[in-house]
Amino acid sequence: MTTDSAKHHFSKDGSSTLYSDKFGQFYHNPNGAVSESNHVFFDIPGVNLALNNEPEALTVFEVGFGTGLNFLLLLDRYLSGKLAFPVHFYSVEAFPVSKKMAESFNFDEFLTHKKFGKLLPGIFGQLQPGLNTIKPLPEHEVYLHLFYGFFDELDHIDNTVDFIFHDAFSPEVNKELWTVGTFRKLASFGKKNAVLSTYCAASKARAAMAKAGWKLAKAPGALGKREMTIASLSEQKISGFKRVNESRLIERFDAGEFG
Ligand SMILES: C[S@@+](CC[C@H](N)C(=O)[O-])C[C@H]1O[C@@H](n2cnc3c(N)ncnc32)[C@H](O)[C@@H]1O
Repeated sequence: MTTDSAKHHFSKDGSSTLYSDKFGQFYHNPNGAVSESNHVFFDIPGVNLALNNEPEALTVFEVGFGTGLNFLLLLDRYLSGKLAFPVHFYSVEAFPVSKKMAESFNFDEFLTHKKFGKLLPGIFGQLQPGLNTIKPLPEHEVYLHLFYGFFDELDHIDNTVDFIFHDAFSPEVNKELWTVGTFRKLASFGKKNAVLSTYCAASKARAAMAKAGWKLAKAPGALGKREMTIASLSEQKISGFKRVNESRLIERFDAGEFG
């Protein structure tokens, strides 16, 4: 059973987004859903580069499948690059939208392979509680592993993840996805050199990441936002960015500054 406690909107770059009545927030930056995703999850953390380097395999873990936009963007790049290695896209979603809602998204207009926009209604239409493994294009080694349920209910997955897209609602309204425990769990999913990216630049969120052992850096935010956050367990992976002082954040966290 799916819920639609969200309403469709067009963000300022013309691409679809949703407004969640449940969380009181947009799913994306209202200035541009597709533009934000391209910046925060593909350009800044180096997913585009990683795809061009043709690794043996590439694995992404996304927190919050939402509209499915990030999966579509990855699929589009994969096909455009004529790539052949296996890609695994893990994601988790407690409140999937209905097939009907997915039919209203206009992401196809922003893709090179316009027909992929039509995949989403089929994906949402077949979801069952628990882990759904879907191979949307039979002739390509791209797998969507979508857990329909709460992040807390998700068991350990092998530590094969290269990139983590942390795309929850903000820490104020979606607290459970910004805890030290959540970031420890995400660390256990990742390879040692996994890179986590998020639009969020809040000190509270960064402190929870630092407590969980992530090394942190700041990068320019999307669409006029001053900053976003990029993190890795390996300092080397984020050496090209302006570092955040994790020790100071941990001190502030331990002093109870973040509640
Ligand atoms: C900011 S929206 C996701 C944006 C999404 N990546 C997209 O491109 O549309 C956050 C998503 O996380 C989901 N969510 C919130 N809390 C959750 C939880 N504890 N477990 C699983 N999903 C959750 C919401 O239902 C929502 O779809």
